[in-house]
Amino acid sequence: MPRDRHVMRALELQRDPSLPPTLELDPGACPVLRADGAMKERLERRDRPPPPCDPACPVRAFFDAARAAGAPVEIDVGSGYGRFARGRAAAHPEIRLLAVEQEGARVARSDVISRRAGQTNLAYLVGEARYALEFCVPPGSVAAVHVLFPDPWPKDRHARNRFFRAPNVELVHRLLARGGILHAATDSAPYFAQMLGTMAADDRFERVAPPARGPDERTDFELKFLAQGKTVSEAAWRKR
Ligand SMILES: C[S@@+](CC[C@H](N)C(=O)[O-])C[C@H]1O[C@@H](n2cnc3c(N)ncnc32)[C@H](O)[C@@H]1O
Repeated sequence: MPRDRHVMRALELQRDPSLPPTLELDPGACPVLRADGAMKERLERRDRPPPPCDPACPVRAFFDAARAAGAPVEIDVGSGYGRFARGRAAAHPEIRLLAVEQEGARVARSDVISRRAGQTNLAYLVGEARYALEFCVPPGSVAAVHVLFPDPWPKDRHARNRFFRAPNVELVHRLLARGGILHAATDSAPYFAQMLGTMAADDRFERVAPPARGPDERTDFELKFLAQGKTVSEAAWRKR
């Protein structure tokens, strides 16, 4: 089946009315989550205040509901096909997990699997993770941020696209509650070295053992890399 037919099939399956309600958040009226070209340009500008996220933003509502339930919130940044997010939410029913991924078809596929399994402590958000984190997630409210197998952007001229750079570490620091964990994994040795260097330079974090993960919490890309015989590196840091 050509790739776009797989995409169409995933999106179609997601609309199956016989399934429980979708776990994908509807951006609603939030200008940040709905950001189009002009809005993206505005969100990228740092010379004037960003537009506020809407009071009825579904990400805010997700955090409000978690706080009311006393449930710790974890975020999976770039959740891809969602294997880790589903496994983590299943292994830890006490948490609420927000999986953010820019590719709608990947989310659709995972959403269908979650709904068939009756998962309820997991929500999906399709879009640019950085905008949602920077403008919609309440500061100090996150127990763990998982950044697993982020795109390595190996060419020097693309290095600015990597997640592990000081501004994003700053952002994660702002979002984490005290004692919260930043958790990362990669198959790229140079990128892992950069992660370690970036985090070692920030004494607001201390390196700790990565969260324990069962077999169902291996990510889709991790399984692919391991099957190819690649070495996978993993680390975690706690906000002091
Ligand atoms: C290499 S894949 C890893 C996916 C998953 N974590 C895993 O290990 O199987 C990286 C994922 O991050 C997503 N991604 C990259 N940049 C993103 C961004 N700025 N916002 C949301 N998703 C992003 C990509 O679409 C892709 O699905």
